[in-house]
Amino acid sequence: MSKTASVLTTTLLAALAGASAQAQDRAAAELRPDTATFAYQSAVVPAPPGWKGPTFKLAHDYPSKDPGACPKSECTWLDLHVDFTLPLNGPAPTWGAPWSDYIARVLDYVKKGQDEALRNEIGWKTTVGSENRWFHVPWMAYDPTRGREYVHGMTNERTATLSDFGEDVELDRGVSKLLLADGSESNQFFETWAFGIYNRWGAYAIGRSIDRGGVPQTGNYGGVAVPAGLPFPEGTVVAKLLFTTATPKDVSYLKDSPAWQTDRHVQKGDMFLCERKVADVHLIQLDVAVVDSRSPTRWVFGTFAWNGNKPGKSAWDKLEPVGLQWGSDPWTFPAVAQSGSIPAHESVLNKAIGTPQHFGCNDRLAGPVDNKLSSCLSCHGGGYAPPVGLAATPTTTPPIFGYAGQCAVNSVDNAQYFSNTQFPMAYTGGQYSNLLSMDTSLQMQVAFEQYGQYKQYGQPVACKASK
Ligand code: HEC
Repeated sequence: MSKTASVLTTTLLAALAGASAQAQDRAAAELRPDTATFAYQSAVVPAPPGWKGPTFKLAHDYPSKDPGACPKSECTWLDLHVDFTLPLNGPAPTWGAPWSDYIARVLDYVKKGQDEALRNEIGWKTTVGSENRWFHVPWMAYDPTRGREYVHGMTNERTATLSDFGEDVELDRGVSKLLLADGSESNQFFETWAFGIYNRWGAYAIGRSIDRGGVPQTGNYGGVAVPAGLPFPEGTVVAKLLFTTATPKDVSYLKDSPAWQTDRHVQKGDMFLCERKVADVHLIQLDVAVVDSRSPTRWVFGTFAWNGNKPGKSAWDKLEPVGLQWGSDPWTFPAVAQSGSIPAHESVLNKAIGTPQHFGCNDRLAGPVDNKLSSCLSCHGGGYAPPVGLAATPTTTPPIFGYAGQCAVNSVDNAQYFSNTQFPMAYTGGQYSNLLSMDTSLQMQVAFEQYGQYKQYGQPVACKASK
């Protein structure tokens, strides 16, 4: 920077010291145009001229004031008596009250003010009444392969190609086979597109972890370096709506499932190309995650599956709970040997759900488009990122999407994957040192890693067509 420019910058900053947050925002963006633009752009590719459909807009006006404790009238599930530490020598939890009430209360919060039919034209409302209720994580529209598309801001999480692991392994949530109505598995792979939203407790933590210029910030938590705004406070609610490229013709229980447009990868035979084209995808799964300090991991994850055969007036009535999970069951195979394994106590599954479900590894929770060798919290428990400014490589972060022998044998890998950690603990095993804990948020992991990619290489990893 020239001397004059730097004097000007200093003067500008000084003048802005007392200015509004919005003015500071603008100034920050002007000072670091690329960083802030890339962090807060809504989509990888903007809507083409003449596009008349819904257009996604990133909600990133994160609250700057601590929202405080969540009132009991709002976070009603926190007021429900549940026991997340059932005696291990006693019976495993079974579906019904209070678990079904717990997830129903979370759903009531999530659906408040949303369209009854979940119509494509309406999309997801981030503002409900006068409240800025839902927010998005930045840096998720940088990667051309899986980054946000312009219609509804959906992402596709395909991080490795299927052929790397063999055709029979469902690797991650970007591509999966589905169970058909008769319980058999489809012979083709479908893409999953999804978007996630954080309520204002979550958003407060996001805004303190990534500044308005798009740069991740670190702080200190009991002597450990962590993202400045983490852990997520109690009151945090995260939801994620997952859509599949399968249709009700492929999978009959998708009947009447809301069809949303998405700028998805063009499919040619069994190849998914980089080229994108708007097509319909159907709602199949709704995930929720809440911070509840009574849980041994501080988190409770839950999921719903679409069931078009269920009677009900609104789309929300047809989302049936699959179960809840508050830990990865380190006492249960394959974290331990079969001979020492007890039935899973930290997942509770709705086995009478009415649609075929594969659930997760050994009665842990996973949803219809999830890897059945995995589970919500075991995958999310790998939410760590390299130090700020460094890109991720396949070996620097835990292998959340799969590894040899996943869920099959009692091994070190499985013991690590199915263990419980609590913020700010490092990943179990010690081989991943110096990583920052994302407090289970894999979207925050994407954000920190995409910033690292940008900082280190100045450009995202190029898209490559894959099987
Ligand atoms: C094999 C890995 C994997 C499994 C299993 C998995 N997820 Fe995720 N999930 C991800 C990834 C990757 C993201 C972030 C990328 C994105 O949203 O595009 C994510 C995002 C989310 C989010 C948005 C907030 C966040 O933490 O990033 C929620 C909520 C969520 N998942 C809930 C669930 C629930 C509930 C289950 C189980 C029913 C589950 N997930 C199972 C990989 C997984």
